[in-house]
Amino acid sequence: MDGYLFNRRDFLLGLAGSTLAFAGLSESIAEAAPLDKVATRQGAISDLQRYRGLIGSLKGFSATIIREHLAILERYRHKLAEVRSQDRMIDLALADPIASKWRDHVLSCLELQNAVRLHELYFDALTPKDVHIGQRVSNVLKETFGSFDQWWVRFRATAIAVRAWGVFAWDNYSRHVVICGLDRDSEWPVGLEPLLVVDMAEHAYVLDFIGRPLDYLDAWLARVNWTVVEARLLKASGY
Ligand SMILES: [Fe+2]
Repeated sequence: MDGYLFNRRDFLLGLAGSTLAFAGLSESIAEAAPLDKVATRQGAISDLQRYRGLIGSLKGFSATIIREHLAILERYRHKLAEVRSQDRMIDLALADPIASKWRDHVLSCLELQNAVRLHELYFDALTPKDVHIGQRVSNVLKETFGSFDQWWVRFRATAIAVRAWGVFAWDNYSRHVVICGLDRDSEWPVGLEPLLVVDMAEHAYVLDFIGRPLDYLDAWLARVNWTVVEARLLKASGY
């Protein structure tokens, strides 16, 4: 059962050119699709193409770490398509909460779908340019946390405390922005609309910031595209 899932905490990239081999997937999954045959979605651009403008242009981040991180995203996307394609080949009558193929399928779909979406949110909000925070987000941070700096202290501490994602989000229930963190891709809280996420898995920073996750977070913050965050807040909150 667990062989079909993967715990981001448990996998650590060998790195330095071997990232794909440990794309956060279980050994059995990694073996299922040879690294040199990672499929590009038919008729769709690859993530390496989609985000090519970020490779080698993000101050503080090497081209290698961005390229390999994008390859991981592509691999998640490929595995999601592969798992989804098995949807009609599993006997629903044998579904069982202790161990069953359908259980593996359901949980894998959730984990992979979130992994793809969270990585898109991460890369979509990065930019080589210096984009200053907008008035709307600035006001919300001030109203909720007291100041941008107080928001950052709390966000940074939360990101450091988790093993997958630091999250800044709009809460549809409280109608306020919130900070939270995830250890796993599948843990997304009910009712939250993502505004900004930072990847805290080792593969996101170890190559360039080994043993220095705080420096990674500082470099990441400098590359946040606040225009994207502003648009997400407007869409989520309506103001
Ligand atoms: Fe990642």
